[in-house]
Amino acid sequence: MSGRSHAWPEGFGCLDGELAVAGQPVSHWIAQAGGTPLFLYDRALIERRIAQLRAALPSRVALHYAIKANPMPELVAWMADKVDGFDVASGGELTLAREAGMAGSHVSIAGPGKTERDLTIAIEADALINLESEREAERAAAIGIARGKPVRVAIRVNPDFELKGSGMRMGGGAKPFGVDAARVPALIARLQAAPFLFEGLHLYAGSQALDAGAIATMQRQTLDYAASLKVPLRHLNIGGGFGVPYAPGDTPLDLAAVGEALAQALDAVPLLGTQIVVELGRYLVAEAGVYLTRIIDRKRSHDSIFLVVDGGLHHQLAASGNFGQVIRRNYPIAVASAYDRAPTETVSVVGCLCTPLDRLGDKVALPEAAEGDVIAVFLAGAYGRSASPSRFLGHPEPFELLV
Ligand SMILES: Cc1ncc(COP(=O)(O)O)c(C=O)c1O
Repeated sequence: MSGRSHAWPEGFGCLDGELAVAGQPVSHWIAQAGGTPLFLYDRALIERRIAQLRAALPSRVALHYAIKANPMPELVAWMADKVDGFDVASGGELTLAREAGMAGSHVSIAGPGKTERDLTIAIEADALINLESEREAERAAAIGIARGKPVRVAIRVNPDFELKGSGMRMGGGAKPFGVDAARVPALIARLQAAPFLFEGLHLYAGSQALDAGAIATMQRQTLDYAASLKVPLRHLNIGGGFGVPYAPGDTPLDLAAVGEALAQALDAVPLLGTQIVVELGRYLVAEAGVYLTRIIDRKRSHDSIFLVVDGGLHHQLAASGNFGQVIRRNYPIAVASAYDRAPTETVSVVGCLCTPLDRLGDKVALPEAAEGDVIAVFLAGAYGRSASPSRFLGHPEPFELLV
């Protein structure tokens, strides 16, 4: 058997035959964390990604981190002075953002169904509320008036366009997100009075797009839409949607092309006086993380070999294909303890849950591995631990380490 099932992900190394992260073999980090399963995040890779974004995007564009992608408190606190703001999806995430040291005024909150608690936390923190409906505006106003506080708002718009080719679409047609574009002018008129401070718009059309052209089109449509309203906007969040290559054959996003197209779009539609914001989750953190899980059994069933590991979908649901994938595709996977060896067999890596859904690698080419060896599942920096049903079946929580 020749060739690997995946190219080695960028930024990781090999030391004494073992996968190395941040200059140390993973066995070192596993010992430091206390064992497996372990989510390991390399801050140098996140820093490199932020630098690439700063270099590629026009300098007037502010960079926000959507902390839903990875809310590990230590990571969020470390990010606080590296990005220009955080985007949160709940009062809980907003509290986390504040505890991480981010000023409330640099946080925006989006999400349908904000509760009284979410709105109250946001208003008390002076955060920007991305309104998802006219009724939400009324509820926020009542809280602001009762507390004698101004309510900073932007309207989340459900645009008439979508982000083509995105893994998840949040705009275009009937959607639970935002206010339909046609009703936005009327709502802006209602937001001109106290307690509101109307600041601008939020357009989030989709996630996980790898096509720079599709992102550029979406960004240009967003600027055109904002300009068409002919109202002063202090703030325009043009969304994100920058995707990462999860499977062989996925072409990484051409970030330079996205940046150049956005610069041209801003030349054509300058929106002077408007702060332009992009909000990114996975593009900042996904590729900086690896999930490490130890083989506890190697078994044969009929003509198939199964490597049964101590982790699984209860920690890393996304890699099992049950979070946001229509057709299951393997995430890049390797034997961490034999990282320099070529594949010699085809095996399936399954988690320890008794459900056929718990499959981290389906018929992947790997070097021979035995009980005690460590499997690495890459692309684990986003939507891993916090997006997985960790209480299902009562197994322990994973370890987590930012290095
Ligand atoms: C409003 C909003 N912002 C940001 C994100 C983050 O997306 P991603 O991690 O793909 O960048 C999402 C994802 O669902 C979202 O709905």
